Formats: sequence, C-alpha cells, structure tokens
Amino acid sequence: MALRRTLLRGGLGGLAAAAVLGGGAAWWIARRDGAAYAALARETWRPPDAASRPVLRELVRCATLAPNSHNTQPWRFVTVAGGLRVLPDPARRTPVVDPDDHHLVASLGCAVETMVQAAPALGLAAEVEVAADGGATLHLVAAPQRDGPMAAAVARRRSTRLPFDPAPLPAADLAVLEAAGGADPRVALLLLDAPAQRAALSELVLAGNSVQLRDAGFVAELTHWIRFSAGAALARRDGLFAGASGNPVLPEPIGRAIFPHVFTLAAETDRMARQLAGSAGFAVFAAARDDPDHWLAAGRAAQRFCLAATTLGLRTSWVNQPVEVPALRPVLAAWLGLGGRRPDLVLRFGRGPDLPPSLRRSLEEVLVEQGA
Ligand SMILES: Cc1cc2nc3c(=O)[nH]c(=O)nc-3n(C[C@H](O)[C@H](O)[C@H](O)COP(=O)(O)O)c2cc1C
Repeated sequence: MALRRTLLRGGLGGLAAAAVLGGGAAWWIARRDGAAYAALARETWRPPDAASRPVLRELVRCATLAPNSHNTQPWRFVTVAGGLRVLPDPARRTPVVDPDDHHLVASLGCAVETMVQAAPALGLAAEVEVAADGGATLHLVAAPQRDGPMAAAVARRRSTRLPFDPAPLPAADLAVLEAAGGADPRVALLLLDAPAQRAALSELVLAGNSVQLRDAGFVAELTHWIRFSAGAALARRDGLFAGASGNPVLPEPIGRAIFPHVFTLAAETDRMARQLAGSAGFAVFAAARDDPDHWLAAGRAAQRFCLAATTLGLRTSWVNQPVEVPALRPVLAAWLGLGGRRPDLVLRFGRGPDLPPSLRRSLEEVLVEQGA
C-alpha cells in the first residue's frame, strides 16, 4: 500500500511537473509567436508607399490586402507589358461554400478595386479589362502622385467579426457609402438600415448560418482554413486566424481538439445574433447578370464600399450566409424585389472596436514578374 502510494505520488508529481514544464513551454511559444505575429501584421498592413520600388510590386502588395473569402488569397499576379494580370488560383478554391467560384471571383474583384484605389497614391492610373477566366488585366500609366483617403484606407480596412454600435448612421455617412458602393450601374446596392429591414435580413443570415453549421462538409472546409495559434497563422500566412476573428488563440492541437465542442449551433447562433443586432445597417450587392464578369464587378463595388466605410471610421463585416446557401438566395432576392437578379454579397456595418489584422502571403508566392 505504501509502495502504491509512493508510486502514485511520484507518478502524479511527475505528471504535474511535466504539465508545468509543458505549460511553461507553451506559454513561451505563444508569447514568442504572438510578438512575431504582431510584427509581421504591422509590416503587412503598411499604407501604399510612393517611394517603394519597383512600383508594380508595391501595387501588388496593396492588392493582397483586399478582403477575400476565408482568407485563402485565391489570386496570382503576373506582370505584362503596360500592366498586370490578376488570375484566379484554382488551388485555393473553397468548393463546399463556393462551388461555382462566385466568391473566388468576387475576391479577385476586391483585389482589382484595391489596386484601382491605391494606384493614384503610387503615381499610377489604372484601367481594368475583364478576362473570361474571372481574372482581369490592369492597364497602368504614369499619373501625378496623389494621396487620398481611399488609398490610405486600403491598409486600415478589416473584416471585424464583433458587434458594432447599432445606432443609425447620419444621412451624410450613408450618402458616402451609397456613392462608393453604388458607383457601377451594373451593380445594385441596397442599403438596409430600418429596424424592420435589419430584423428580416438578420433572420435570413441566421437561417443560412444554421444550414451551414449542420453541414459537415461546410464545417470541415471552414476548419481547414482556421488557424488557432499565431504559430500556425505565421507558418502559412493565410486562413482565418482565431485572434483576428475575436476568438481565443490556442495551441494548434488543443484548438483543433476542442473546436467541435465549442463550435456548436447554439453557441454560433448566439454569437452571430449578437453581431447582427450590433449593426447600424446592411448592404446587399446584386449585379445585373450572373456571370464572372459581374461577380468581379460586385466584388469591386463591395470593396469600394468597405474602403469608403473605413474613411468614415466605420467597421464592416461580411454576412454572406443567405447568398451562400442556394435555397435561401431566391428567398433573399424575392424579399428585396430583385426580380431574376442573383444577390451577390452581404455586408454589415457600424462603429465598433478593432481586432488584430489577418496576415497575407509574401509577394514571392503570388507574383510572377515576367522578364525579371
Ligand atoms: C467574397 C467574400 C466573401 C466573404 N464571406 C465571408 C463570410 O460569409 N463570413 C465572414 O465572416 N467573412 C467573410 N469574408 C471575409 C473574409 O473572411 C476576410 O476578408 C478574410 O478573412 C481576410 O480578412 P480581412 O478582411 O480582415 O483582411 C468574405 C470576404 C469576401 C471577399
């Protein structure tokens, strides 16, 4: 008995010592990775720098700051005579949530618009020619260097998955958002800020959320792109870093082990409902046609909207559930009176707190400089 007690004490003591040592090491790693993450995020989210050479590399660096579905960064850039080509990267598709590449092409649209808005700050003017593969060519010419609030907003925009202040925005702010998001006549922008409109749209988002969370394929694809630790986020520089989504940062194996237990329908419905209630309004983008050319245009319009919101000190966050779930898309379209149009993208907006930014892959991974 005495022997058993001694062994037990020794064993437990050993385990406790290992746990303390392991905990200490985990703490040290988390601290080191957290500091490295913060340093890389600062370096990543620099505003357009007119002095940076070659200027095309700087323009592509700005493009990579664009919002993009699941932060897969589904793009490649190639220098061509007189400009740049932006191409889809098929290796970075998300076939469950986005089977027809609609979000992928909209993400390319966000990158294209980011370059159009950043170009003047780099002494360039950009003209966009859409390609049949969902990509585009930017024809670039020298122009007088001009700093402006939209270019500066490129490095301050975030997708902020937190509740915002639901207080209605002043009409002047709404007018700025409408002018930016609705500038392309091929893309209708519907701004919904009346309480009844917000409530009805929130119901559709929650309905979509619930369909997606019951879909094992959706959850598996989402989990694949989540980075629970700063170390994993740093290693890949893509995906959804827990800290940038307002979630606890955990050692990767622990995060993956507990995720199925905390990512429940009840918990996520509650979290999403709080975010929806914490919104000053919603913006729905619906292009005139359902083809890649128009998906790209919808992405450009949404990014113009996000940048304009950023210039006003507003936060934006994407709530695309009702356009991602095929059965809900016609319900949303009918409610909005869109006729045969496909609703493309949904954003919520308002004043709110900030979150740490997400990371981006290096230029070496996304840019091919022909002739370099
Ligand atoms: C076309 C598109 C669809 C998106 N859909 C969602 C979405 O449904 N839910 C969400 O939380 N974020 C969504 N996002 C936001 C991305 O996850 C986000 O842009 C990405 O993680 C990078 O983070 P950042 O925008 O803060 O730079 C979407 C972004 C784009 C461009």
